Amino acid sequence: MDPADAQAEMCRLIEELNRHNYLYYVLAAPEISDREYDRLYQRLTALESDFPDLVSVDSPTQRVGGQPLDKFTTVRHALPMISLDNTYNPDELRAFHRRVCERLGVSTIRYIVEPKIDGVSLSVRYEGGLLTRAVTRGNGREGDDITANVRTIRSIPLRLRTLTPPPVWEARGEVFMADRDFANLNDHRAANGDPPFANARNATAGSLKLLDPQVVAQRPLDALFYAHGESVGISPDSQKELLGTLQALGFKTPEFIQESSGVDDVLEAIAELDRRRALFPYQIDGAVIKVDDIKVREILGATAKAPRWAIAYKYEAEKATTRLKAVTIQVGRLGTLTPVADLEPVVLAGSTISRATLHNFRELERKDIRIGDRVEIEKAGEVIPAVVRALKGQRTGGEQVLERPTHCPVCHEPVHESEAEVALRCVNPTCPAQVRERLRHFASRGAMDIESLGDALVQLLVDSDIVHNPADLYELDVTAREQLCSFPGLGSKSVANLMAAIEQSKKQSPWRLLFGLGIRHVGARAAQTLTRHFSGIDRLMSCTVEELQDVSEVGPVMAESIVAFFSNAANRELLDRLREAGLRFVEESLDEGPKPPSFFAGKTCVLTGSLQSLSREQVREKLEAMGARVTGSVTSKTDFLIVGADPGAKLGKARNLGVAILDEEALLAHLDSSPKTIIDESEADAGEKGIPVQQTFGF
Ligand code: IVH
Repeated sequence: MDPADAQAEMCRLIEELNRHNYLYYVLAAPEISDREYDRLYQRLTALESDFPDLVSVDSPTQRVGGQPLDKFTTVRHALPMISLDNTYNPDELRAFHRRVCERLGVSTIRYIVEPKIDGVSLSVRYEGGLLTRAVTRGNGREGDDITANVRTIRSIPLRLRTLTPPPVWEARGEVFMADRDFANLNDHRAANGDPPFANARNATAGSLKLLDPQVVAQRPLDALFYAHGESVGISPDSQKELLGTLQALGFKTPEFIQESSGVDDVLEAIAELDRRRALFPYQIDGAVIKVDDIKVREILGATAKAPRWAIAYKYEAEKATTRLKAVTIQVGRLGTLTPVADLEPVVLAGSTISRATLHNFRELERKDIRIGDRVEIEKAGEVIPAVVRALKGQRTGGEQVLERPTHCPVCHEPVHESEAEVALRCVNPTCPAQVRERLRHFASRGAMDIESLGDALVQLLVDSDIVHNPADLYELDVTAREQLCSFPGLGSKSVANLMAAIEQSKKQSPWRLLFGLGIRHVGARAAQTLTRHFSGIDRLMSCTVEELQDVSEVGPVMAESIVAFFSNAANRELLDRLREAGLRFVEESLDEGPKPPSFFAGKTCVLTGSLQSLSREQVREKLEAMGARVTGSVTSKTDFLIVGADPGAKLGKARNLGVAILDEEALLAHLDSSPKTIIDESEADAGEKGIPVQQTFGF
């Protein structure tokens, strides 16, 4: 393909991918499947590696990139990012309204009431339509340049969605994590032995402060915009128009915007928002009341801290107090010791709470929380109730300080404590608590999904020394089964169900197996990316840290963790046994149902030169449909170089590396003729006979 054609094709793909990205992440109304998206994405990646000079900064492949930073640079905001004054009750709000009316000499005014999103404020700058800089609020005058991190947030456009971009446009809004994403993140952290975040806001702030954009890309960040900073070429007249402009440019804006005239109307809107608060998929900590008319705002102006035309109305956080009866120490899959509060039951946000997280020992000591204390608990992120503080004034003297454990409460081995990690860790891999948690994770719905193998049964299997690791599950012999049948509550029927579920799980996709292995830092999404990239687990097992980091979204920490896992002899033995048991290590096809083995399954192919009978596009599609991976450059990992007329330097490189070379005739002979591929019948026939068909393009 000549560079001009390549460029045109790349532009088309970028536009198409960005549109699907927008439909998915901003409008939540996707038009195509993930698989179709991936296919377009891979086509773009391949073209970009063939034509690296033509890679465009707004390409979706360029969201995650660059080296980790040493520190963020401080930059000055073109216009200051001021904050808002807060009100907490109707009287304070009425006073605000009076001040506004007095300054303007009017008796009523139109306001917009928006949800106040509990996130981290951000300013994003576009020049000529392209995202050039993203900055935190900082002290309002200057903030941290976090552009590389913000580029990873899929709902923020890399290019404004307009054919006539303004010379300068700064959108201002809030980065946040949706409740469900936050809960998943904390689940993964707990499973990985990392301390959980206290709430979604902390998780967001912590993520944006990370210096490695590859790690940030793994965090489920999202953003909503409700204001603008410097703007050249666009000047909306009202808040409503501004929100419309932001939407038209490709940004997500807050839902449930109410228009109100006068203060009573505003109070009703605030109450309505409060009633709907629980329905929002993210955290709302109040309402923001803004004068709608932007010219009127200019008359009102601002103080050094906050505008005179807007105010926040904060809702009370959902809190309750109760007594801390005891602290239980949980040992996670990777040995992390987490203190959990046993509480006198109390109703909080509609449910009865008797357990709450204390996060970690450092946190517990910092807050000086003692057994017997009356404590305040809060529902953080609507998900995990957490102990916020002890009511020290109510102490009676009988409270007990909890010492940091020096030994694991389960296996009694000494615990490991490192300065870098907040967590205390049991480093005994045979600790029964870890063995149990690893098995639970393996069998869990998100991993191998062995339905009959619930928590209680896992505990029984481990405690009775029948199962110690996932491979044991697949090797349960008659004696073990008989032993199981004799346990109270476990009849032969339930054992038969369990055996059937274990057998069934052998068919699970390789990504589920990879995730189920519980490699630190490898979550479900990473497992999917990795198995897709390496067509399963086999090739992944011998990858180097560098090769792993070539996979988009894999950073150094995950890469090192994977290499360490697979270089451990016990883990390799475990994998051998799982393979022997018949589990799936190779991603044969993403389609359900058996497929005939394909010549190209799991192979890495590179194309060079032009083919007579098929366009490169078609060859790529056919190869991918047969399970091959088509990449842009020849390396020692390349299995086949497919050579057409006028081949490039890749041919010489392939010869030097001893890579197998297929010419067009050989390619066609090996291309699948099954109707599952996109080949039409005449082409398939030609392929089988090895006769190239001349194709006419352009009609
Ligand atoms: S307007 C000049 N609107 O709340 C006015 N702020 O406590 C700029 N916030 O710094 C702010 N939701 O980070 C505005 N709908 C909303 C908001 C919002 C959340 C944040 C923002 C601001 C903070 C003040």
